[in-house]
Amino acid sequence: SEYVVQVEGTVIARDESTFNPNLSTGKIEVQVESMTIINESKTPPFMIEDDVEVSEDIRLKYRYLDLRRPAMFETLKMRHQVTKTMRDFLDGEGFLDIETPILTKSTPEGARDYLVPSRVHPGEFYALPQSPQLFKQLCMIAGLDKYFQIARCFRDEDLRADRQPEFTQLDLEMSFATLDQIYSVTEGLFARIFKLIGVDLPLPFPRFSYAEAMRRWGSDKPDLRIAGMELQDLSPSLAETTFAPYAAAVAAGGEVKGIVVSGGIGLSRKTLDELQEFAKRYGAAALAWIKLGEETTSSLLKALGAEGVANVAAAAGAKKGDLVLIVAGKSKTVAASLGALRNEIARREKLIPPNAFAPLWVTEFPMFEYHEDDGRYYAMHHPFTSPLDEDLDLLERAVEGGETDLLGRLRTKAYDPVINGVELASGSIRIHRRDVQRLVFKALGLTNEEARSRFGFFLDALEFGTPPHGGIAPGIERLLMVLVPTENIRDVMAFPKTASATDLMIDAPGEVDAKQLEELHLKIVDKQ
Ligand code: AMO
Repeated sequence: SEYVVQVEGTVIARDESTFNPNLSTGKIEVQVESMTIINESKTPPFMIEDDVEVSEDIRLKYRYLDLRRPAMFETLKMRHQVTKTMRDFLDGEGFLDIETPILTKSTPEGARDYLVPSRVHPGEFYALPQSPQLFKQLCMIAGLDKYFQIARCFRDEDLRADRQPEFTQLDLEMSFATLDQIYSVTEGLFARIFKLIGVDLPLPFPRFSYAEAMRRWGSDKPDLRIAGMELQDLSPSLAETTFAPYAAAVAAGGEVKGIVVSGGIGLSRKTLDELQEFAKRYGAAALAWIKLGEETTSSLLKALGAEGVANVAAAAGAKKGDLVLIVAGKSKTVAASLGALRNEIARREKLIPPNAFAPLWVTEFPMFEYHEDDGRYYAMHHPFTSPLDEDLDLLERAVEGGETDLLGRLRTKAYDPVINGVELASGSIRIHRRDVQRLVFKALGLTNEEARSRFGFFLDALEFGTPPHGGIAPGIERLLMVLVPTENIRDVMAFPKTASATDLMIDAPGEVDAKQLEELHLKIVDKQ
């Protein structure tokens, strides 16, 4: 197999008994008169077929053979159709395709930068863009009105199943855009793209604030294909409790919440133990349960008594046959663990309907996130996101009036479209006023000098009549993962990297010779 051959002959009809309905050419064949071998092939390291059992490392090392498999070809063809649809759609909407630099300066999207040393400026470095964020805003300041770019982004961050160090965004930005205009352009675009797989997305997408999404589903990317299992606040029903872990959680400003697994009494003790371990991975101290069977059984019977357990089950809205799972602690931990459990139970119990697509917008993300490890606030999206108009005074009071705690309450004009539990894009209306941008930098702990040295060019630009503007950036790989569908981001890229950011085929990253290092004024001090 895999030889390249040239045959000459006559096309003839196949005998009816040899028709192959799986081939477009299944009714004909070539009667060969002469054949030349154009090129031979070694025996490939794996069979070039779909569904072949072979380690992913081997597939990545011989990616050019892996890509010969029909399924890989189909995925790359789909990727082409998706980017073509994006270009055609945005062209029709009056957007201009504009390229921005790859050798640039760091923009803060929350990851580490990949750096490129400069030969002509000893000791200085370019950064590869984590996204074209500031350039697209500069395009708006330049009056370009509607920009887009299929942009390569680079982020040196801890890799997960849905992340690559180098990936592609459809980056877009519009001047004078309202939230509704951005939602409608994005929805129109997604609707066209999903048509490629024969799916009519329900429009408009429902919108939920971040606060509501966290309260109801414990997640800022809830999978709305899963019916029910919304988080129920059980704290009021436990107001009088003397059970120490719950009393302490509520007293400390935390919560006790639960989810109801409809008809879930059949889940075995072993499964409950596994779910307990699963919840602990998300920070839960414990996972309590109540089963409303013929008799009520519960891990809380001793602690709360029969009446206490019945009250909690009633507060959760559970009925006979249901299982209630309960977590107590800080709001963030309760949301994270129950939100993840909701997905995990749906996956295990096969509660996700096939071929369903459930889009939504999550809006009004918080501006800042407090990191306990270093005791400071970070931008949740990025520092160019506009706060809600009605929350601007919180920012002023926090920064100028020293009421730092208010930073945690600041909401923004940021939005993520989510489909089937996958965050497909992020965007926001941006800050177009220099004074507001300065306050945000200050809130992030940047002194005036630091802000100037990193973003002086941008602060300067904001002083020359910046139109209000906003935009969004869907991740092309994430979108394809939902369309194909696949859980593996590497399946939707021609030449992906491994989880440790290496390319097994070309063996990158690699060492360079001493002369190159010298030209770049670099010295390797310690390889460990
Ligand atoms: P953000 O950082 O949220 O926003 O990225 C936007 C989208 O890009 C995709 N994405 C990734 N895909 C694969 N691998 C990664 N490592 C990775 N990181 C992000 C996701 C994500 O939703 N400049 C802003 C956008 C804006 O405000 O307009 C930005 O980059 O699908």
